[in-house]
Amino acid sequence: MILALETSCDDTCAAVVTAGGEILSNVVSGQEAIHGEFQGVVPELASRRHCEVILTVLHRALEEANVRPADLDAVAVTREPGLIGSLLAGVAAAKVIAARHDLPLIPVNHIEAHAYSVELEHDVNPPYVSLVASGGHTALFEVRDETTYRLLGRTRDDAAGEAYDKVAKMMELGYPGGPEIERTARDGNPGAIAFPRPTLDGDRRWAWRCEELDFSFSGLKTAVYYHLRDHPDARPADVAASFQRALNDVLVHKTLIAAERAGPSRVCVTGGVAANGPLREAFREQGRRRDTTVRFPSPELCTDNAAMVGHRARAVDARADLTLNASPSNTVLEAASGEAAAAAT
Ligand code: KG4
Ligand code: ZN
Repeated sequence: MILALETSCDDTCAAVVTAGGEILSNVVSGQEAIHGEFQGVVPELASRRHCEVILTVLHRALEEANVRPADLDAVAVTREPGLIGSLLAGVAAAKVIAARHDLPLIPVNHIEAHAYSVELEHDVNPPYVSLVASGGHTALFEVRDETTYRLLGRTRDDAAGEAYDKVAKMMELGYPGGPEIERTARDGNPGAIAFPRPTLDGDRRWAWRCEELDFSFSGLKTAVYYHLRDHPDARPADVAASFQRALNDVLVHKTLIAAERAGPSRVCVTGGVAANGPLREAFREQGRRRDTTVRFPSPELCTDNAAMVGHRARAVDARADLTLNASPSNTVLEAASGEAAAAAT
């Protein structure tokens, strides 16, 4: 049994996952109320809050799983990438538990945890293509097996979730922006405004090169900014729906093209943005047309959680000692640079 901790951004999470991958508990303590008034995460407030609640959260995870520390086989913790102060709160807590109960300490990469998270609920055996679309990252991987994957593309600027959050901020819809845009878009016409589909429009030649599966969302975000400036009477519902459709189109098409190029007819869509209802619908529809199976985690396993960290830890061979440090950047991906295969943390 693995106790997993995740504190890379603004959610304090603890979970207990069995050696077979069953989730016994999955506790998330969000911080929307703290960051809402700033319409974005304030790193210092996030790390302080993690420190305040982490013990309560991890006790709840043990209690709900009906597990005592003596029953545990290991402690897993997200060590990168993320906000450094936030990550350190989880890493420090994990070290204390590991030292106190003499347990192995397993360092986990947050993006890898998202990339493999569909396996928590679905029987998707690699190879498959995994899209991670979160607040800090947008990346496409060809997952080859439980320890090897290949980076196919990543964002050159804003992450998909970041674009959702920034557009929501421009529209004064609140934080986190993704769910607010989705809610506002429900009454809107997605065809009302022809926002650009960056790196998709006019680019029909899909050579098998990493850059061509890269994403770019800052131009779309700027287009929304100018539209709001030049059309103060625009219906918020139409702006939200048109933006959402444009961004989702890029995610769907690039991911399915990546699958066609890489070979697997299975696609997993993960990360906070994968909770978006219209995105899931568009993936299902386009997947059917192209004979590609598309799987998503349940919405609560798309956004940050520790169950995915516990799941990932099962495949990680590395063991850390008490000198384990957190890293704000994704050292695993950087070491793998470009198209090279990357091994587990
Ligand atoms: O994976 P995640 O919880 O945290 C990071 O690793 O960043 O992703 C959070 C991101 C935020 O940008 C949030 O606005 C976005 O996921 N998000 C959504 C939805 N729910 C969360 N974006 C679009 N639609 C949603 N329903
Ligand atoms: Zn995440």
